[in-house]
Amino acid sequence: MNETIIYLSYLVAASLFILGIKGLTKPKTAVRGNQLSALGMFIAVVVTLTDQGIISFQWIIAGVLLGSVIGAVFAKKIQMTAMPQMVAMLNGFGGGASLFVALALFMDTNSEAALIPLIAGSITMLIGAVTLSGSLVAFAKLQELISGQPIKVPANKFLNGALFIGSLVLIGLIVANPYQLELAYYLIAAALVLGLVLVLPIGGADMPVVIALLNSYSGIAAATAGFISGNTVLIVSGSLVGASGIILTSIMCKAMNRSLTNVLFGVMADVGEKVDADEVYAGKIKASTADEVAMLLETAQKVIIVPGYGLAMAQAQHAVRELANTLQQRGTQVKYAIHPVAGRMPGHMNVLLAEAEVPYEQLVEMDIINPEFEQTCVAIVIGANDVTNPLAREDKGSPIYGMPILNVDKAKTVVVVKRSLSPGFAGLPNPLFAKDHSLMLFGDGKQAIVDLAANLKEAS
Ligand code: TAP
Repeated sequence: MNETIIYLSYLVAASLFILGIKGLTKPKTAVRGNQLSALGMFIAVVVTLTDQGIISFQWIIAGVLLGSVIGAVFAKKIQMTAMPQMVAMLNGFGGGASLFVALALFMDTNSEAALIPLIAGSITMLIGAVTLSGSLVAFAKLQELISGQPIKVPANKFLNGALFIGSLVLIGLIVANPYQLELAYYLIAAALVLGLVLVLPIGGADMPVVIALLNSYSGIAAATAGFISGNTVLIVSGSLVGASGIILTSIMCKAMNRSLTNVLFGVMADVGEKVDADEVYAGKIKASTADEVAMLLETAQKVIIVPGYGLAMAQAQHAVRELANTLQQRGTQVKYAIHPVAGRMPGHMNVLLAEAEVPYEQLVEMDIINPEFEQTCVAIVIGANDVTNPLAREDKGSPIYGMPILNVDKAKTVVVVKRSLSPGFAGLPNPLFAKDHSLMLFGDGKQAIVDLAANLKEAS
């Protein structure tokens, strides 16, 4: 294919990626953004395949078919609540794919050992392997195959430093001796262990940051892999993923009060004295009923609904929309308070509520809604826990201290819908449940909200 046409096609593909990402920033344009990016990827793949006869087309078609079938089955089967694990896995595969591209360079003894591809190849193996093993640990934690709590690695900081410096030394040796394949294997082994020791000690509330960071790593690995084969569109798309992943990481860090340096070097927040659940709750919990809460809602002028992970687990989004409709028909103002890390993935609550066709303008972000709680008659917390936990404001020893929360406790009455007093993702008791103006409505999120809406309708 003519080189100018190839470069022009890559330029079109890269522009489509950028327009696609722009579209994804707003719910209304997200679907279109996704389609534009997919079109860009299609153009990039077709042009790359027609451009170079890397291997036979039979192998490429077989790979595409196999990958597409596996991808389609997973995409169909995966539950919305398991999406973060899926993203972690995809990041890992992205890193792994780049790692194999780089390894192929070193296995190909016919290839010319030019400096740039050698450096790029070694860096790709380092980042690709860290992404692969780190993502597998993140997947195992989120899937609860291993404990989600921080897992202590002895001499963690020293080990991280030693593995990183060792990897840099190995990169130097590889560049000096490009045909010694075992050096590449040593580098991959060191980087795989580095990925493990980086992610194992990170637990609980930091996991979203890790996923965003690994996402960025997978992009950087793809970009450096682009330098190996001199593929411009891979460099551009990898850089886009790398940069957007880092931006998301920094947004998540702010939302969870974690410094990027701490996350990068796997340092946990200091866990102070553990707050005892019995001490927090003993004699202070007031269990209520759907009937009682409905009576409370009958006179409420303003209600804020606070969704969390339990809303997704219970699939209560449609029931919540029904309840909100009933309230609005009675003249009550209803808003939804969206915490940036509620649920288990960025935008989790937005996606769920959009599925139930809750109007976008009723979803209000944390910073904007927080001052409104004081003028709110009833705040209904549905399956949210950590994102409402006042320990984040009050307890300096708490691992979530400093994390911005929804100021639910400032509402006149707080109704908490959940099945028990079990903790949330961070594993901490929540003093909100024991406050004088808090009522617990125990039960499955969906059933509790259906009952509540039914009682309210009866009263209308
Ligand atoms: P959590 O603190 O995890 O609390 C969820 C609560 O939902 C649990 O306490 C649970 O209590 C309740 N629940 C579970 N199933 C339920 C059901 N069927 N019906 C009713 N309630 C149910 O959730 P959150 O407040 O949304 O906070 C999110 C947490 O996840 C944060 O710590 C955050 O850092 C972390 N995280 C976030 C992300 C992103 S990016 N959003 C990703 C990974 C981790 P019961 O068992 O008593 O019902």
